[in-house]
Amino acid sequence: MLKNIILVITLVPTLLLVFTACGGKTERTVLQYMPHMHTTPVMKPQRGYEDGTAGASVLMPPKGTIPRGFFPYTMKSAEEAGLKLKNPLPFSREVIHRGRDVYNIYCYACHGERGIGDGPVVPPYPIPKSLVSDQARGFVDGHLYHVITKGQGVMPAYASQVTREDRWAIIQFLRVLQRAENPKQSDLDLLEQRKVN
Ligand code: HEC
Repeated sequence: MLKNIILVITLVPTLLLVFTACGGKTERTVLQYMPHMHTTPVMKPQRGYEDGTAGASVLMPPKGTIPRGFFPYTMKSAEEAGLKLKNPLPFSREVIHRGRDVYNIYCYACHGERGIGDGPVVPPYPIPKSLVSDQARGFVDGHLYHVITKGQGVMPAYASQVTREDRWAIIQFLRVLQRAENPKQSDLDLLEQRKVN
């Protein structure tokens, strides 16, 4: 008799455990003791929120907003930029030196030291148009800014590498290169004077 009672006392809970353990399919959320990260929502990377609640691990920026410090560029063509944009930087020694430094980093490889298109990677890179030709001298600053910002033909865009200010500074330096190829009489006189002194 006692044996039977012990059997029932041990067997019944054991069987109950066995049959309830790997919980059957239930519609209800079971109460979890210390769930930790047992159940986490599934995130889909880079998908964007549809309903603002779940589904993606990265929030999409609200419509019509821009990141801090971002300046949208809306010019459609070099002609439009030429008409609407003005160089905000002065034609000063400091700006020209900055422009020269940035030119030597980003443009020299193709356009060369004097801007005539004889940089060290040409060839195999295609020969660029001269930056000191009559045509290039005729381009207003906004036009040149557009070409640097957006690229032109096989020339890549430099907006992501060269800051807006540096692009304007390069243009002031290009004006120096252009004048060096087409010096005024006063420039030549100055050169003579320096040679004599
Ligand atoms: C990888 C070589 C390469 C680099 C680097 C490069 N360019 Fe160019 N660039 C070219 C080529 C090639 C062209 C001719 C594109 C065309 O019109 O097909 C060109 C054209 C231009 C023009 C237009 C000239 C015209 O007569 O229409 C300007 C202005 C210019 N580049 C400025 C720059 C400046 C400023 C930089 C540096 C920020 C630069 N480029 C860097 C290859 C390069």
